[in-house]
Amino acid sequence: MGRIYLDYAATTPVHPEVVKAMLPYFSEVFGNPSAIYSCGQEAAAALEEARVKVAGLIGSRSEEIVFTSGGTEADNMALIGVANAMHSRGNHIITTAIEHHAIIEAARFLEKNGFELTYLGVDDQGIVDPDEVRRAITDKTILVSVMLANNELGTIQPLAEISRATRQAGVYLHTDAVQAVGRIPVNVDELGVDLLSMSAHKLYGPKGAGALYIRKGVRMEPITHGGGQERTRRSGTQNVAGIVGLSRAVELAGQEMAAEAERLTPLRDRLIQGILEGIDHSYLNGHAVKRLPNNANLSFDFVEGESMCLNLDLKGICVSTGSACSSSNLEPSHVLLAMGVPSQLAHGSLRFTLGKWTEPADIDRVLEALPPIVAKLRAMSPLLKNRR
Ligand SMILES: Cc1ncc(COP(=O)(O)O)c(C=O)c1O
Repeated sequence: MGRIYLDYAATTPVHPEVVKAMLPYFSEVFGNPSAIYSCGQEAAAALEEARVKVAGLIGSRSEEIVFTSGGTEADNMALIGVANAMHSRGNHIITTAIEHHAIIEAARFLEKNGFELTYLGVDDQGIVDPDEVRRAITDKTILVSVMLANNELGTIQPLAEISRATRQAGVYLHTDAVQAVGRIPVNVDELGVDLLSMSAHKLYGPKGAGALYIRKGVRMEPITHGGGQERTRRSGTQNVAGIVGLSRAVELAGQEMAAEAERLTPLRDRLIQGILEGIDHSYLNGHAVKRLPNNANLSFDFVEGESMCLNLDLKGICVSTGSACSSSNLEPSHVLLAMGVPSQLAHGSLRFTLGKWTEPADIDRVLEALPPIVAKLRAMSPLLKNRR
C-alpha cells in the first residue's frame, strides 16, 4: 500500500505542469533579469508575465505585486516595512493570538524595538470579532494584521468586516493569506486589504517563492537593501524559476480551485464525522463550516498528538500535530490555547489536510487505522489511569 499524505497545509508536492514551466528557467533562460542584454530581458519578461498572472488571481494590478522568498518574508516585509515607514504617525499595531509564527515573531521583534502590539483573542471556534478590532484601534494605530485562513484549523476570518473598521479609521490592513490563496477565492478589493502575503509551496508550487501584494499608495520601507530590484521594494536577484513556478501554480489554481473545493469538502466532512462517531472523546477544533475545504483538526482526550502521529506514520499515513513549524517543540498549539482548548486536549490534537492527490480510499484507511491506535495508546495512558 502506498503512502497517504494528509499534510497539504505544511507543503504540497509540486504540480508536474509547474515543474515543466520552471525547467527552462534553470539553464536556457538563465539570465539575470536586471541585465539589459536579451537573455536577461527574456527573464525580466517572464517575471512581468508572472506578475500579471499572480495579480489576476487576487484581483490586483500587477505593479502591486512584489515577489519574495515565500510567506515568511512577505509577512516580515508587511509588518516591519509598514512599521518603519509609519512610525512618525504612530507606534501601535494590532494582530491576533492565532497568527503563524512569521507574524507573531515579527510582531515580537517590533515590540523589542519600541512598538506597542495588541494580540486579539478569538472565540471558541477560532474566529476574530471585527468589533474587537474596531475597539482596539487607537489614534496611534498604524496597522492591523489578521490572517485570512488559519494554518492549523483552516478557520476563515471575517476580513471584509474587519476592513470596514480599518478603512473607517484610516489604518492599513494586512492579511496573511498563505493558506487561503489557491484554496478559496481571494480578492483584495472584496476583502478590503492593503497588503496580502502568499506562498507558492502551499498551492503546488515550489518552496522559496512567494509574493506580497501592496496596494498602490501604501507606505512601506524595504527590509532588504541592495540592487533595487522589485522597484526598490525588495532588493535581491529574483528567483526567476521559482516565480515562474508560482505563476503557473496560480494559473492552475484559478482553473481548478472551485472543482477541487467541491471534491474535498465532502471528503473532509466524512473524515470528521467518521472520527467523531468512531472514537469516544474526540472533538472537532475550529468552526465546522467557516473553514478551508481541506482541513480537519481534531483533539482526542487522554492521548498525545505526537504518539498518534508516529503510529499513523508506521501505517504509512502522514499527518501533523499542529503547524509544521512547531513540530520541533512540544508546547501545545498557541492557536488551540487561544481558543480556550484545555492544555491536555491541545496536546492530543491532529491536523489532517487534504489535497489534489487525496482519494476517498485514503479517508477509509485513516478511519480504519486511527481508532485502534487511539485505543492502544489510551490503554497505556497515565492520563486515563489518573482519571480512573
Ligand atoms: C499561515 C502561514 N503563514 C506563513 C507561512 C510561512 O510561509 P513560507 O513557508 O513560505 O515561509 C506559512 C507556512 O507554514 C503559513 O501557513
